[in-house]
Amino acid sequence: MTRFPGRWSPVVLLMVIASCGAERNTALSESLGLVPIADLDPAPGVVEVELVAGPGQTRYLVDGPAEVWGYRDGARADSPVTVPGPLIEASEGDTVIVHFTNHLPESTTIHWHGVRVPNAADGTPTTQVEVPPGGRFDYRFTVDDAGTFWYHPHVRGDVQVERGLYGMLVVRGGPEIPVTADRAFVLDDVKLEATGMLSERIDSLDLMLGRQGNVILANGRAGGKLDVQIGARERWRFVNSANGRYFNLRLPGHSFMVIGWDGGILPEPYAADTLLIAPGERYEVLVDLAGTPGETLTLETIHYDRGHNIPDPGPKPVFRIRFAGRAAALGPLPASWGPIPEISIGPTTPTRSIVLGEQEASGPGEEPSFFINDLAFPNVPPILAAPGDVEIWSVRSATEMDHPFHLHGMFFKVLDVDGVAPLHHGWKDTVNVPQNATLRFAVRYGAAGRWMYHCHILEHAERGMMAELVLSPKL
Ligand code: C2O
Ligand code: CU
Repeated sequence: MTRFPGRWSPVVLLMVIASCGAERNTALSESLGLVPIADLDPAPGVVEVELVAGPGQTRYLVDGPAEVWGYRDGARADSPVTVPGPLIEASEGDTVIVHFTNHLPESTTIHWHGVRVPNAADGTPTTQVEVPPGGRFDYRFTVDDAGTFWYHPHVRGDVQVERGLYGMLVVRGGPEIPVTADRAFVLDDVKLEATGMLSERIDSLDLMLGRQGNVILANGRAGGKLDVQIGARERWRFVNSANGRYFNLRLPGHSFMVIGWDGGILPEPYAADTLLIAPGERYEVLVDLAGTPGETLTLETIHYDRGHNIPDPGPKPVFRIRFAGRAAALGPLPASWGPIPEISIGPTTPTRSIVLGEQEASGPGEEPSFFINDLAFPNVPPILAAPGDVEIWSVRSATEMDHPFHLHGMFFKVLDVDGVAPLHHGWKDTVNVPQNATLRFAVRYGAAGRWMYHCHILEHAERGMMAELVLSPKL
């Protein structure tokens, strides 16, 4: 409890409280139209929202509207369903309460990807009963880690996420970083027919690679535009919500200063000319924007060889940047960044071996299959362990393609890929396991419960490449 000095008048206290609230709601700069959700609880430390999933319309292309599924802010009577859903903002340590209503024609859940929620709020079909059409469910958790997270269904994920059910959750905290603008971008792609409608056709390549879209979206828009100031230092937070597309970002003439990953701010930022973001991953970068008045620049995604000999389609635009006005000078960057991920392992630390496998479709009309240790979910035996145990996971892609591997409910630290230690360190919950390679990470297990792990190519997860880690206290 904060104790205010007795000489403060109630009016001053009210102003202090009001400005805290305002800060939380206005902190993110508008970026291609992400709409913040209304916080129904004025108390600091509590974010309480009404989230509704339902059918709606959006316009990805000028040619015509697309029928989508999306989330809307249930506290605003006429708010439309949007893709992405409303932006949820909180501060480190806040309690988040989400009153969820399902207006979809089928059952669903919400998973808070990356947030260390209590198991009952994890939103998977083994931690809760699916919310039926017309049903309600309350999610309640505290956000203990500052960072960039996202939310999406965990029922028929390949279909429900592709139709537009996803949104971002930003948790503020960590070092003060002076920037001209702090923006959030959810990257996705959609497969559209010439009419502008979402395609219902799924071919075997879609199942093999994760559905490949023909239109690239940033915050639900194709060909979006962003106005920036010359000389601005901007903070950009990215989530890749695509079923299967890897984004490999490049901003010509600029480099990214990578400051954060899935689990928050890194101990040591690093510079990168390209930024690879696999499905499910998050990255935070600083960009020093140089340009002249009226000049435009394009953030693009370039080819990345994720396997199965996918041809290079050339660079594709993600959004355009226009320069106008000049940015005010900013204070210096912080002297120290995030905490160093420490986890002590030794020769006796147990190792779990996880082999990701696939089998191509055996013929026309057949579907490919995906495995963990040669078995398909729900037939994979769960990993059994106790909260707080430290173990190593050795995850091998025994396939001709990369798989973004996600573990619910806790963060891990990558040790090596085929024996080579990574150059940069930070906490991850989703990591790309390259084709025909073995990635090892160390993890200290979190809270008791059933925690899913799976490939975040949603077609793979829903066709077997998924399993559970079951943590129960030692007796
Ligand atoms: Cu982002 Cu199990 O999911
Ligand atoms: Cu996969």
